[in-house]
Amino acid sequence: MPETMKAIRIHAFGGPEVLTYEDVPIPAPGPGDVLVRVHAACLNPPDWYARTGFANIPEGIRPNLPLPFTPGSDVSGVVAVVGSEVTEFSVGDAVFGLVRFPQLDNGGKGYAEYTTSPASHLARKPAGIDHVNAAAVPMAGLTAYQYLFDHVGLEEGRTVLVNGAAGGVGHFAVQLAKTRGAHVIGVASGRHEGFLRDLGVDRFVDYTTTAVEEVVRDVDLLVDTVGGPNGHRLLPVLRRGGVISPVFYGEYHRERAAELGITFVSGQVHSDGAQMAELARLIEEGRLRAGIDSVFPLADAAKAHERAERGHIQGKIVLSVAGE
Ligand SMILES: NC(=O)c1ccc[n+]([C@@H]2O[C@H](COP(=O)([O-])OP(=O)(O)OC[C@H]3O[C@@H](n4cnc5c(N)ncnc54)[C@H](OP(=O)(O)O)[C@@H]3O)[C@@H](O)[C@H]2O)c1
Repeated sequence: MPETMKAIRIHAFGGPEVLTYEDVPIPAPGPGDVLVRVHAACLNPPDWYARTGFANIPEGIRPNLPLPFTPGSDVSGVVAVVGSEVTEFSVGDAVFGLVRFPQLDNGGKGYAEYTTSPASHLARKPAGIDHVNAAAVPMAGLTAYQYLFDHVGLEEGRTVLVNGAAGGVGHFAVQLAKTRGAHVIGVASGRHEGFLRDLGVDRFVDYTTTAVEEVVRDVDLLVDTVGGPNGHRLLPVLRRGGVISPVFYGEYHRERAAELGITFVSGQVHSDGAQMAELARLIEEGRLRAGIDSVFPLADAAKAHERAERGHIQGKIVLSVAGE
């Protein structure tokens, strides 16, 4: 086992150029951890929020991240060392998961050749998919899973509108809602129509040409991954008694929503190895898959973040670490 590895580190907050590729010591796993030889790591919005020092959060409540740090909480790889208390995994097991999220100090450090993870945050990588496709799943897949099944408790046969349907969270929400027999309406820009129809949307609305609030009614659940100042514009699509699940902050005119009998259910995604195993089962059954927007070598993490900043992501952006 070598003593050093290649990793991305951030020494000062800023744009994609602050992601530097350098040699760092290989971390040692704690008693409940495993050391993972990372084969692929995935980008998520918190990675660029952290890179900028959470410039998107008002001063005063802005988290204080110690520098330098390695970003990245989604990984897929192979167990290289097991901690003394770990019983679920052995050296050589292929695993994937969302590592130490949401933990700001000492969070996931996935943009690296090796990383440690609590064993309880991982599950076995699904058979039949490579590490790039597995690394694309954890945070976005768990967010969709926890929103639909833990927070909302989606019942069979509901009508679900997913706003931002082609993005990381959205494309998993589409597929997971379909596993509950939902009628799914996907809202995205027109370039994603074929992708979303392949994933099973029953109806596609291109928000760049059609005002969604004028053509959709009687939705039971709005999963809104877009939010923002115009979040309230989608209120008319919901039936009385409908639910909005804001995945991101939005201005929903909550008093007006209450008059319309609309309620809100949301939460914060968290690491969960048992739920990762559930996602792995759905992948192995052919009922869930990641869309891959683009793949970059670990050394080009800055280019991957530049891609993310251009927006209109279809699925996930992945870093290939071990040449997969
Ligand atoms: N609460 C939590 O625990 C949690 C967890 C994960 C993520 N999040 C947050 O959720 C948000 C989404 O995350 P993500 O990873 O899914 O982002 P993402 O991969 O960037 O996806 C966003 C998608 O929205 C689409 N979009 C942009 N403007 C739109 C509009 N006006 N109407 C409809 N679609 C639009 C984009 O493509 P097109 O414009 O081309 O359609 C893109 O596909 C982020 O802000 C993230 O921070 C929260």
